[in-house]
Parts: sequence; structure tokens; C-alpha cells
Amino acid sequence: MASPGVVEAIDDRRAAGAALLTARRRLARAGIRTAALDAEVLLAHVLSSTREGLLAHPERRLTFAQARRFSGLVSKRASRMPVAYLTGNKEFYGLGLRVTPRVLIPRPETELLVELAIDFLKAHPDARRVIDLGTGSGAIAVAIGRRVPSVRLEASDINLSALRVAAANVRAHRLVSRVRLTKRDLLEGASPADLIIANLPYLSAVQRRRWQPELSYEPAQALDGGRDGLDLIRRAVLQARGVLKPAGALLLELDPSQAGRVERLARAHWPAAKITIHVDLSGRARALRVLRP
Ligand SMILES: C[S@@+](CC[C@H](N)C(=O)[O-])C[C@H]1O[C@@H](n2cnc3c(N)ncnc32)[C@H](O)[C@@H]1O
Repeated sequence: MASPGVVEAIDDRRAAGAALLTARRRLARAGIRTAALDAEVLLAHVLSSTREGLLAHPERRLTFAQARRFSGLVSKRASRMPVAYLTGNKEFYGLGLRVTPRVLIPRPETELLVELAIDFLKAHPDARRVIDLGTGSGAIAVAIGRRVPSVRLEASDINLSALRVAAANVRAHRLVSRVRLTKRDLLEGASPADLIIANLPYLSAVQRRRWQPELSYEPAQALDGGRDGLDLIRRAVLQARGVLKPAGALLLELDPSQAGRVERLARAHWPAAKITIHVDLSGRARALRVLRP
């Protein structure tokens, strides 16, 4: 006869399919629209498996420790902590990145900025020095560094904790020799660059009041753009005049509602430049490009 301890261990094991169903219901009750997907991602993370692997083997049994860990993650997700902070990972531009609550979770719309940067660098093979301003997790610098081997990047941020996360990503993607991490306030004291690329905080006070509960887990310093959302962008555009080399490019991510204002701002500072607005995959204005003559 099994000892009471063994019986307890067997009873506490659960099938993955049943655990997923319970979690999905719990997340849906908490108002999470992606309840099924989130439950699968979290369970795959706990079991060091893939979502496909889980769905192919719903009979797979969880140990007591796995069930308890999964339940803890589901509770946190039900209180709206983003999935990426729970798993510690986020995919950006096809690359796996480490993320913690010290950094903004890289967004798919920022991939547009990376694409514009890569196009510029390919069309200008002499452009070697790139600044990723407000690097956060290092997403932009890592993506450009992996795709364009000829460039050297400075990834800067005002926040030292963010730079530590960026350093881990730079190491993980074997870019230590080409990406220099720097703590600085915007472009103060920066050396001349051929390309400046920045996804700075741009949410306005009104947008911050209306934001999704998930955003309250992300660092305010990564989101808060001041009253109209443009405090940092205004300063960066002004400073870029002294840092961007002739024939260089400035790329800025923006909120679609800011496109006209940011374009006028850029024209006031760079009257002779070629200035264009670019749309993201959902057709919304998302990036400004300044090509300096
Ligand atoms: C919107 S997040 C972007 C992070 C990352 N580049 C991305 O696209 O996922 C903005 C980043 O700017 C940084 N930041 C805020 N104020 C700054 C300043 N004055 N100078 C430099 N970086 C700043 C924040 O710490 C944050 O990491």
C-alpha cells in the first residue's frame, strides 16, 4: 500500500489539458481577451515546452510543483501583469529578448523603425555609427546589430536598470564588440552619428489616464512623454541638430495622433531636410524619418 505522502503526490498531479482549461476560464473571467493564448504560453513556459507540444499532449501530467507554479503565474496574469514579464521573454524582429519590469516590453510596431533603419544603412554603406536612443531592453540596437554587421552602435538610456537588461541582451546575441551601452540624458555629449534612431516615451497625460491596466506594470519613465507626449521628442529633435552628420538620418517612433505636430517640429529645425512619415502594418502613422542634406 502506498504511504499517505505518495497518494497525495499522485492526487496533486494534473493533466495539462485540464490545467489549461481551468486557467483559460480564470483569465477570461478577469476580462483578458487573449485568455486561451496566455494560458498556453504560461504553461509552455512552466513545462519548458512549446504551445504546439502542449496541445499535442493534453494528457501530459504536471508535477505538484509545476501545477503550483502555473497557478501562481495565472493569478499574476489575472491581475494584469503582462505575459512577457511573467515569462521573462519577448520576441522582437524574430529575436528572443530578455525582459524584466525594468524595461518596456518591445512592441511589434517598433519593428517599422528597425526596417527603416536597415533600409537606410543598406542604401548608405558608409554610414557606420548608429545611436539607439532610449534603448530599454536593447531591442532596436540588437535587431540592427544582428542584421547589419558593418555598423557600430551606441545604445543609450537614462535608466541604469534598463541598461543592465540591454547588456544581457547584447551579450546573448553576441554583440558586445559592436554595441556600446551608455548612460546619458538623451543626446547630451553624444559624438556625431550617421543614424539616430529613437523610440522615446510619447504618451500624453490624457492617454496615460486611459491606459490599459497592463501598462501600469511597465516603467513610467519608458512611457511618460509629458503633458502632450512630446517633451522628450522635442528635446531630442533639437539636440539631434548638433549630433547628426551631413547625409545622416533621424528616425523617431511616434503616436499616430502626433504625426502632424512632430513633422512640423522637424521641419522647423531642419528646413532643408527630406522629411517623411511612415505607417505601420495597421496603416497608422508610426514613424518620422528626417534625411539630412
Ligand atoms: C518607449 S521606451 C523604448 C525602449 C526600446 N527602445 C523599445 O523600443 O522597446 C523609452 C526608453 O527611453 C528611456 N528614456 C526616458 N527618458 C530618457 C532620457 N531623458 N534620456 C535617455 N533615455 C530616456 C526610458 O528609460 C526607456 O527605456
